[in-house]
Amino acid sequence: MNTTEGQCVIIVIFGASGDLTARKLIPAFYQLVRHDHLSTNFTILGVSRTDLTDKEFRDKVVHNSSFLEEAKSESDSLQKFAEHIYYQSLKGGYDSSLDVLKERIQGLCDSKKLTPNCLFYLSTPPSLYDKIAQRIHEQDLHKEDDGWKRLIVEKPFGKSLASAKELNKKLLQYFDESQIYRIDHYLGKETVQNLLVTRFSNSIFEPLWNRNYISHVEITNAEFDGVGSRGGYYDTSGALRDMFQNHLLQIVSLTAMEPPVEIEADAIRDEKVKVLRSLRPWTEKSLENQTIRGQYTGAEVKGENLNGYREEKGVEDSSKTETYAAIKFYIDNWRWQGVPFYVRTAKRMPTKVTEVVIYFKSTPHRLFTNSNLNNENVLIIRIQPHEGILMRFGVKIPGQGFQVEPVNMDFYYQDLANTRVPEAYERLLLDAITGDATLYARGDEVEAAWAFVDPILENWHSKNEAKLYGYPAGTWGPENSDDLLEGKHTWRYPCKNLTDSGSYCEL
Ligand code: BG6
Repeated sequence: MNTTEGQCVIIVIFGASGDLTARKLIPAFYQLVRHDHLSTNFTILGVSRTDLTDKEFRDKVVHNSSFLEEAKSESDSLQKFAEHIYYQSLKGGYDSSLDVLKERIQGLCDSKKLTPNCLFYLSTPPSLYDKIAQRIHEQDLHKEDDGWKRLIVEKPFGKSLASAKELNKKLLQYFDESQIYRIDHYLGKETVQNLLVTRFSNSIFEPLWNRNYISHVEITNAEFDGVGSRGGYYDTSGALRDMFQNHLLQIVSLTAMEPPVEIEADAIRDEKVKVLRSLRPWTEKSLENQTIRGQYTGAEVKGENLNGYREEKGVEDSSKTETYAAIKFYIDNWRWQGVPFYVRTAKRMPTKVTEVVIYFKSTPHRLFTNSNLNNENVLIIRIQPHEGILMRFGVKIPGQGFQVEPVNMDFYYQDLANTRVPEAYERLLLDAITGDATLYARGDEVEAAWAFVDPILENWHSKNEAKLYGYPAGTWGPENSDDLLEGKHTWRYPCKNLTDSGSYCEL
C-alpha cells in the first residue's frame, strides 16, 4: 500500500556523509520504494559539512554503495530511486543559519507544486542535536502551517540522566513532543514487536505471565563482532550505555508491561514507562552483588587472532570501558514481585544472538521422579537471528514406566510462506512519515531508563570502582558471570543447548 500518495515528503538527513546513511537509511528507503510504500513525491536531501555534489552523493550512497549490492541487478529501479536523492553541503557548519537549506527545501518542493512535509533526521554527532534543532526552528521549518514537520533523533540520547533531561528540555524549546521521534532501532525489529502479539493476542500465555508461574526471566544480547572501527565512540560509551540503557530496557519493558488499553502510541508507552518506574532502586549492596562488568581480551578464534579491546583502534591503552555487562534486577510491582530479571549484553561472544527466555516454575508436586526436564518449561523468544519462538516441555518417552524428556516446539519466521522480514529501519522510517510514534521512545521513557542506569555507571566509574573482569574474545564472558545467578541457575548458552534445532551458533 502506498501511504504517502499526494504528499510531498522531503527527508532531510543531517550528517548524511556519515556511515548510517549509506549503511541503513538509504537501503531502507530503497526497500520502501520497491515495495510501493512511498509515493513518487518523496525527496531525500542529504546534508552535511562535506563538500559533495548531488551526483557525488548519489554515487556514494547508491551506485557505489556496498549496502545496495543485492539491488544492483535492478539497475532501472535503482537509477529511478537515485533521482530522488539530492545533497546540500553546509560549508559553514551549524554555527551559521540554515537559510540555504530552507531555500533548497522550498525549491525542491515548489518544483513539484506541493506543500512540503519534512522529516528531519539527526544523524550527526549528538553534541549537535540541539544546535540543529535550534537552526531549523530559526528558519520556521518546524512550523506545521503547511504540512507536517517531524524530527528523528538518533541514539545515543544523552550520556546520563542529567544530559538526557537537558537534551529533552532543549529539543522541546524548538519542537513539540508530538513532533519528536527518538529512534531505538530494536523497536523496529519484527520480533520485538511480536512480543506484544505473543503476549496479548494469545490467551494461553498471559494467565501464566506473572510471579505465580514464572521463576525468572533472562535476556541475552550477544555479538560476535568486536568494536571494529567504532572504538573511538565506544570507548566513551561502553556496553551499558550502548545497548542496555536503550535496546535492552525496551525489551524488558515490552516483556514486563501490562496490557495497554489499545494499540496506540501513548497507551503503549504509558505502560512501558510504568515498568521502568517500577524497577527496584539500587542500593550499595545490590550494585555490588547484582552487576558484573567485563572487557574482552585477545584470543585465537577459529584460527584467527582477535584483538583484545584495548588493542582496538581508537581505544585507550588502559581503558576501563566495559564490553560486557550483566545485570540482575527486580521489578517492584504486583505482577513481578520477587521474580529476578537477568540481562546481559556483550561484544566478542561466541555468536550473535538476542533472545528473551522465560523460565516457568516447576510443578507444585513432582510426580515423575524419572524426569530430565529439570522442572523447567521454557519459552524462548528469539529476537535474532533465526527469528522465532521455542517452547520446551516434557513428554513421556515411549516404553515402560514414566521416563520424561524435554522436547522443543519450535517456530521459525522464515517458515511463513512469502514473508519477508523487513529491516528495522524500514518500518521505523515509514512510521515516522505516516506519523505513528508507537515504536519510538517518549521523553519520559528515555529519562526513566537513564534514572535506572545512572547509579550503575556511577558505581562502575566511581573512585572505588567495581572490578572489571577480563574474558577471552569468543567466550561467554567473565568466568564468574554465573555468580550473578542464584543457586542452580546458570546463564543459557545457546550454542550448547540448541544444537538440535539448527545452526544457532556460528562457531
Ligand atoms: C547499536 C549499537 O545501537 O546496536 C552497536 O551502537 C550494536 O554497538 C548494534 O552493535 C546492534 O544492533 P543489531 O541490530 O545488530 O543487534
